[in-house]
Amino acid sequence: MIAFSKLWIASTLLAQHVFAIPNQVKRGDMSMFATGLLHESMNWLDMYYDSERGYLSSFDAAALTHETRASVWYAAGLLARNEADDVEQAVRIVKNVIGAQFKNESEQWYGDYQVYPEEPAVGSEQYQAVIYKSWDPNWRGFIGTTFVVMLEEFPHLIPQDVQDYMLKSLYNATIGDSYRVGGMNDDNLYPAYSNPSIMRAVVSGWVGRRANDSNMTTAGETYAKEIIDLFTRDNTLSEFNSGTYAGVSLFALTLWAKYMPEDSLMGQYGGQMIQSTWTLLGELYNANLKNVAGPWDRSYGFDMNRYLSILALQMWTLVGKENAPVYEKPYAMGHKNDFSISPLIAILAPFHNTLVPNATLSSLLSFPGTHTVKTSAFSPPFDTYPRNITAWISPHLTIGAESFSENVIGGPGKNTNSFNPAVVQWARKDGSVGWMTLYPQVMALAVEVGEGTLDLAYPEGNATSGFSFLVGTNSWDGKRDVRSWEDIEGVRVNVTGSVDANYTVAFNGLRGGAGETIK
Ligand SMILES: *[C@@H]1O[C@H](CO)[C@@H](O)[C@H](O)[C@H]1NC(C)=O
Ligand SMILES: *[C@@H]1O[C@H](CO)[C@@H](O)[C@H](O)[C@H]1NC(C)=O
Ligand SMILES: *[C@@H]1O[C@H](CO)[C@@H](O)[C@H](O)[C@H]1NC(C)=O
Ligand SMILES: *[C@@H]1O[C@H](CO)[C@@H](O)[C@H](O)[C@H]1NC(C)=O
Ligand SMILES: *[C@@H]1O[C@H](CO)[C@@H](O)[C@H](O)[C@H]1NC(C)=O
Ligand SMILES: *[C@@H]1O[C@H](CO)[C@@H](O)[C@H](O)[C@H]1NC(C)=O
Ligand SMILES: *[C@@H]1O[C@H](CO)[C@@H](O)[C@H](O)[C@H]1NC(C)=O
Ligand SMILES: *[C@@H]1O[C@H](CO)[C@@H](O)[C@H](O)[C@H]1NC(C)=O
Ligand SMILES: *[C@@H]1O[C@H](CO)[C@@H](O)[C@H](O)[C@H]1NC(C)=O
Repeated sequence: MIAFSKLWIASTLLAQHVFAIPNQVKRGDMSMFATGLLHESMNWLDMYYDSERGYLSSFDAAALTHETRASVWYAAGLLARNEADDVEQAVRIVKNVIGAQFKNESEQWYGDYQVYPEEPAVGSEQYQAVIYKSWDPNWRGFIGTTFVVMLEEFPHLIPQDVQDYMLKSLYNATIGDSYRVGGMNDDNLYPAYSNPSIMRAVVSGWVGRRANDSNMTTAGETYAKEIIDLFTRDNTLSEFNSGTYAGVSLFALTLWAKYMPEDSLMGQYGGQMIQSTWTLLGELYNANLKNVAGPWDRSYGFDMNRYLSILALQMWTLVGKENAPVYEKPYAMGHKNDFSISPLIAILAPFHNTLVPNATLSSLLSFPGTHTVKTSAFSPPFDTYPRNITAWISPHLTIGAESFSENVIGGPGKNTNSFNPAVVQWARKDGSVGWMTLYPQVMALAVEVGEGTLDLAYPEGNATSGFSFLVGTNSWDGKRDVRSWEDIEGVRVNVTGSVDANYTVAFNGLRGGAGETIK
């Protein structure tokens, strides 16, 4: 039996509602935007720098511990800024981080970097090795790509012995990264896990060439080929549409396009992959709402104006901070720690931004008119068939959803909090954004998105199936107490289908309610 429900959704804003007109921008303004991002982020990061230790303090530690990855991003920013003793501090950070890199080839985390310098030895009796917890396999890619950027962009600032040390570190990181095989030892690095797989390929290809290790070069190219084959199927990233991770993938693809030679597949395909990704993002973007429409494979928030996404930092360099989905004080936003990747985004912007199509730039500034986007993405081994994506985007209301048939619940990331297969967003009269998203509870979903409608069906559903939606709270002046759809501001929703029309409403609050908040 199939469980289905059809939602009829309408905006309650008047058709002629006028949104703030964005400032016009020219491509020539972009270098100013990137410089602004570099300096604003560095001013913030400076406040966390512990010059006694040569590491950044953790952004949210309870007891003044430090943190490795953000320290390295900051070091790249220090080289880019190059004022006073910036270069000296950057070198100190780099040496500290490499000094603590894992050196035992027999261990799964060989060549990886610490999560924080105060941690005990990973794998010791008191500090068991738990992937993504006591150690993070993606730190090789994040820190490795940052070293590559530093060596490519600022070799004139880094002493030769430190450059050699960085290359040795990158070599170990690449060997260690080659231990990663999706499905083995609790690891999940498949080519479809786009952001780390794109980083893996470029670090291996780049280090192999620098170190004259043709095996390493070939390994990078072979992995890149798998990523490219998945991408060119429908010109989409497997890890499709994520405010955070599309940003990381675009960053890593910029390394493909900028640093890899013509004889590399990465050099050949990087540029067009960036263009295709931005073309689609531009079509999914609603400049009235300053949000990319759903569905989102992995999201850390539901309204880009309220959580800091890496994609929004890239938009900052394209159209300026005020026109991007970034709050005036970025460090006050949800997921604010990602503001620490800003130096890398700013350093690469002059090259990366030349690849962003003009039509995308224009849709980041003004809404082009109601349209529908159809595409697909594929993440083996989790998807049985490609996920089919449809988004209907109108001036005040967007509906975006994907059909999928998978062997897990919560998407390839197996995370029910971040997988958002059906998302609705709407404008409210005070200019803020309302949203609702289907909470994933099943392995298969069939969707149809129309003009103001969202059809959802569980092909494997039965009489116990239910549809749960997370719905954002109302605006500052709106109702705080919500008992039914009628209390939701800015939108009218009614539901038909095989479902019991009764529903219950619960509130998951910061300080109580039915359960924990979801983010
Ligand atoms: C390296 O790791 C292996 C496996 O855990 C262990 O048996 C060995 O003693 C370690 N070597 C050193 C030098 O610590
Ligand atoms: C690289 O790993 C080897 C062991 O394979 C170790 O001896 C060496 O110190 C490591 N290099 C760095 C820079 O950590
Ligand atoms: C790699 O080979 C080139 C050309 O033969 C040489 O100049 C360079 O020093 C070598 N690099 C390393 C790390 O061995
Ligand atoms: C390169 O790979 C081949 C085949 O896998 C292997 O026999 C050889 O030892 C490797 N060479 C290096 C330098 O790792
Ligand atoms: C954008 O348009 C300008 C002027 O028509 C053109 O020179 C430029 O190549 C275009 N840029 C891209 C990325 O398409
Ligand atoms: C997506 O569409 C294709 C082509 O129509 C179809 O083969 C595939 O089964 C669909 N995927 C899902 C998950 O329904
Ligand atoms: C209904 O579906 C749920 C979830 O797949 C399953 O656990 C349950 O056994 C099914 N019930 C019946 C009566 O088939
Ligand atoms: C739901 O809304 C649609 C569009 O406004 C309307 O046509 C339909 O009759 C409504 N259905 C119910 C059950 O209220
Ligand atoms: C659904 O609504 C009916 C009629 O209002 C009511 O009798 C019943 O208790 C409700 N069921 C649930 C599960 O709330």
